Amino acid sequence: MIDAKNATPSEIVTYLDEYVIGQSSAKRTIALALRTRYRRMQLSPDIVDEVMPKNILMIGSTGVGKTEIARRLAKIMNFPFIKVEASKYTEVGYVGRDVESMVRDLVLFSYNMVKDEFEANSKEGVERYIIEKIVDKLLPPPPKLSTTSDEKYEQLRDKMTMRVINGEMDDKKITIEVSKSMNMGGDESGSHIEIVKIQESLSSMFDSLGVKKEKREVSVKEEKELLRNEAIDSILDKEDMKREALRKAQEEGIIFIDEIDKIAVGTGNSSRTDPNKEGVQRDLLPIVEGSTVNTKYGQVKTDHILFISAGAFHLSKPSDLIPELQGRFPLRVELENLTEETLYKILTQPKNSLLKQYQALLEVEDVNLEFDESSIKALAKISQQANEKTEDIGARRLHTVIEKVLETISFEAEKYSGQTVTVTEDMVEKELSEFYENEDIAHYIL
Ligand SMILES: Nc1ncnc2c1ncn2[C@@H]1O[C@H](COP(=O)(O)OP(=O)(O)OP(=O)(O)O)[C@@H](O)[C@H]1O
Ligand SMILES: [Mg+2]
Repeated sequence: MIDAKNATPSEIVTYLDEYVIGQSSAKRTIALALRTRYRRMQLSPDIVDEVMPKNILMIGSTGVGKTEIARRLAKIMNFPFIKVEASKYTEVGYVGRDVESMVRDLVLFSYNMVKDEFEANSKEGVERYIIEKIVDKLLPPPPKLSTTSDEKYEQLRDKMTMRVINGEMDDKKITIEVSKSMNMGGDESGSHIEIVKIQESLSSMFDSLGVKKEKREVSVKEEKELLRNEAIDSILDKEDMKREALRKAQEEGIIFIDEIDKIAVGTGNSSRTDPNKEGVQRDLLPIVEGSTVNTKYGQVKTDHILFISAGAFHLSKPSDLIPELQGRFPLRVELENLTEETLYKILTQPKNSLLKQYQALLEVEDVNLEFDESSIKALAKISQQANEKTEDIGARRLHTVIEKVLETISFEAEKYSGQTVTVTEDMVEKELSEFYENEDIAHYIL
């Protein structure tokens, strides 16, 4: 695990190398963009606002690792980072998710990051709050006129506190009041700021009215968990969290827009002018350029959010995007098509390569799966041939080919339990012989 925020470009590339083979120019460009953000943060206030992020457009055929790069990045990001699909959005005014919702999603993500961070910093306070509440329940303060002296009560209370902390009281049942949760719809897809505001005020109104409380019996152990959210709510400063979440999203946020080619209107396309696609592009313009978006946490300026987009551009070209949008992605990187050699490396090198996945899966059945060197070469070769003869679907071809080869073993795994099964070149060729004999079949089976 590396710390993406402080990592140097070469450290990020090294990390990506563990999972994605080749594609070094794409990796370099992205790593550099991340580092540039880090450098920008170190600048003095008078210049920091001047440095705008350089958005990136990744172009490469299907199955060559575009989404994989994004997925790997997401795992190490300690920035707010979301990956969205351009094709999921619709033009403002039509039914569906509007483009601004991607910014709202980013802020939500950022808020959750901040919340985790704040929680981690106030662990002790949260624990104390929970214990206090439970002790209150187990040992309510004596009535005014009772004979128990304050001193005595304090002593009892201290003892009880210790017992609750130690977990001695965990099995004891207590009765609590829970408010029936009012679901105000956490998903704010396509909702306008007014609706978000109404939702917020409604839910806080219901909270204060305390409607729909019901009594429930739970163990002390369960109550400890149940109280956690309440404790967090009462201890953490929500306003502070919102402010920090907004700042983080604005300054450090990254939005990865996948499948951007799906909103380009290809010249070869029969429906030349698809109003919805163009509309989505037009809606994207202000967001990528820098505008203000309302979210339930407050207003977000998108000027410094980094946008990375990716597309295969099979049916369209980057130049089919409206010019204004093209201009907003000044850094272009092309991903290479995969060769037989790369396919071989993809099979063997990544930390979680396909072969390792199959080995792990069959190990569950106590089958020790091994691959002959020559069988791996054959898999790569056949995949490459299939890509050439039919459609080039990149590394995804490996999935179909291996699945086919291992189908029999996988299906009858229990027969091989406790044994070692070695996949040989002969096996690969036998299983795929149909493909050799009849090219037409290849279109369907691989
Ligand atoms: N260069 C590579 N190194 C390792 N694995 C790869 C590489 N390229 C593709 N893969 C594997 O192939 C599969 C498909 O890759 P990915 O999802 O990145 O394709 P893509 O480029 O986004 O294609 P599309 O344009 O169709 O979305 C993934 O399982 C990924 O692990
Ligand atoms: Mg993809």
